[in-house]
Order: sequence, then structure tokens, then C-alpha cells
Amino acid sequence: MTYETLLVEVRGRVAIVTLNRPQALNALNSTVMEELREALAGFQKNSDVGAVVLTGSEKAFAAGADIKEMQSLDFVDAYLGDFISGWEDVAGFRKPMIAAVSGFALGGGCELAMMCDFIIASSTAKFGQPEITLGVIPGMGGSQRLTRAVGKAKAMDLCLSGRMMDAAEAERSGLVARVVEPERLLEEAIAAAVKIAAFSAPAVLMAKESVNRAFELTLAEGLRFERRLFHSLFATEDQKEGMAAFTEKRKAAFRNR
Ligand code: CAA
Repeated sequence: MTYETLLVEVRGRVAIVTLNRPQALNALNSTVMEELREALAGFQKNSDVGAVVLTGSEKAFAAGADIKEMQSLDFVDAYLGDFISGWEDVAGFRKPMIAAVSGFALGGGCELAMMCDFIIASSTAKFGQPEITLGVIPGMGGSQRLTRAVGKAKAMDLCLSGRMMDAAEAERSGLVARVVEPERLLEEAIAAAVKIAAFSAPAVLMAKESVNRAFELTLAEGLRFERRLFHSLFATEDQKEGMAAFTEKRKAAFRNR
């Protein structure tokens, strides 16, 4: 499958998706959104794909929603067309997805990175929600996901001032899981994805689902949800295999069933 704005490669059980609009610093236009939705829908159905790495270029993961595309939009068009709501499909992808971020991750770029399960950043990465400088606010989840990731103080600072934070500050703030040297970024993200994709797929998907529920449920509801999923994994062959492998002091060979 070839795309206009994405490069897609599958290595073993890991799909690597590279945003590829270098002339616009990977600005997220409707083609990027449609193509990414299509690529992810394919990976969702393909049991040979166990995890995805989403990355951009050295200079930019993505510099935001495409300003030139949305510049002339009016309220009624935006409202009736539910502009940019299609990105929710990316957030709803059920398999693990790691963002490997180098350079700018601004506006929709930062929001797209936050839709992934975790972010591995190059030391060159810069994160921000500069929409305020354009007379708007974040529209792909920035005010919500950033606040949950870094808390009110940093989220307000970024959304109100439009300033960028570097990789070190992003890691300190809890936005980024790991920071690595630029030349190791993709290697580190792929290695993490390879590791995850080798675990039991039902357990991996349930771990993702359960962590994500923490953003929506009360602690009591969340604990009940987690426990039910935990119980259900005892119905899988992989639980038998994982625990047998531990007691037999060998590496587990999960069948992903
Ligand atoms: N949309 C469309 N085009 C963009 C873009 C964007 N978000 N960001 C960069 N580009 C384009 C530039 O227009 C330029 O194209 P031309 O060569 O045709 O002029 C090209 O990419 C290179 O960009 P610069 O020359 O500006 O590169 P720079 O190194 O000088 O600056 C930058 C880099 C600081 C990231 C700067 O490009 C910039 O500020 N970009 C906009 C960032 C932004 O405001 N993002 C938020 C968008 S709104 C949003 O995302 C809403 C939402 O929440 C959904």
C-alpha cells in the first residue's frame, strides 16, 4: 500500500509509520488524517502487526494541523463537518502505538503524539500548543490530554503562552517516557515496539485499555474494571504459557491467542 503523505514499513511484528510532508514540516492536513486512519485500520485487522511506531522527520514530528488548509474555514463548515474529529480514530487504535518524536511536535503534532500510548523523544524534540498565537485553541485534545499528562500548571503555561518546552522539560513533566540521543531515536522506539509485540496480544491490549480507563473512571470503578480484565486473562493460552515458562525457567513463547 502506498500513500501520498506517509511511508509505511513492516519489520517483523512492528509497523513503522513515518509522516512524510517535509515541505510543510509534516503539517497534518486532511490527507494525512485519512491516510493514517486507513493505515491503522489495516494494522488493526492484521494479526501479524503487534505494535506501531509513529514518527516524523529529524526536524519535525509534525508542526501542527495544516494552517493553510484551515485558514479559510468558517464556523458553520467546521461545526457541520465536525472538523478534525476523524483524529479520534487514531486515538481509538487498539494496538500499542509509540510516538518517536524528533524536532517540532506542535499543536496537532503534540496532540497526535499524545494520542499514542507513550512518547520516546529525541533530545532535540520541542513540544508546544501554539494555537493561541493563531487566535484559536487546541482542537485535537491538547487542552485535555496535555493537562492529564503534565498537570494544570504546565498545561496552562503551554496553552496560554504558546511557548515550547524542550525534551528535558517534557520528560520532567511526565509528557515523555524516555529521552534519547537523536541517532538512537528510531532504534529505541522500534526495540520497545518489538518487545511489546512479542508479549501476549490480549494482555497487551487489555493493559492499554486499562491504563486509558484511568483517565475516565473513578478509582473504585477503575480498580473493578482492571480486576475483571485481569480475571479474563486466565482464560488465555498465553497466561498458561507465561506462567509455565516462569516456573520452568525458560522464555515464554506466546501464541497471541
Ligand atoms: N501548517 C501549514 N504549514 C506549515 C505549518 C503548519 N502547521 N508549520 C510549518 N509549515 C510550513 C511553513 O509554512 C513553511 O512552508 P513554506 O516554505 O511554503 O513557507 C514550511 O512549513 C517550513 O516552515 P518554516 O519556514 O516556518 O520553518 P521554521 O524552521 O522557520 O519554523 C516552526 C518552524 C517554528 C515550527 C514554524 O513553522 C511554525 O511556527 N509553524 C506553525 C506551528 C503552529 O502554529 N502549529 C499549530 C497549528 S494549529 C493546530 O495544530 C490546531 C489544532 O490543535 C488541531
